[in-house]
Amino acid sequence: LASTEVDLAPIAEGQAITVMWRGKPVFVRHRTPEDIAAARDVNLAQLPDPQPDSARVQKPEWLVMIGVCTHLGCVPLGQRPTDQKGDFGGWFCPCHGSHYDTSGRIRRGPAPRNLEIPEYTFLTDTSIRIG
Ligand code: FES
Repeated sequence: LASTEVDLAPIAEGQAITVMWRGKPVFVRHRTPEDIAAARDVNLAQLPDPQPDSARVQKPEWLVMIGVCTHLGCVPLGQRPTDQKGDFGGWFCPCHGSHYDTSGRIRRGPAPRNLEIPEYTFLTDTSIRIG
């Protein structure tokens, strides 16, 4: 499918879902106030791929990104409550140990870039179209 619609209403704060889009997993996380604060409270100069959180989200509580590690393409852990989320509370790629923060930015490990943000549009307050 060229585009896919996602109903955000059932995703509780702190939860995440994975949807497939163009053959790739897309992570949608309903961030908590703590997630958002952690994503903003960062010295950008210390990031391997410096990007403010505000450039990665359209609404602070919704993080939408492609769930493919920018190192060699594994799918990072962090979507399920019991998953390891790495040292920065976001995602952890177990293939070679890349740690991503609550904005999906690479913070430690071999991945060269932040998790990619796909093109998406809010159709209503609680639904998006990816692609
Ligand atoms: Fe993720 Fe290598 S593929 S760390």
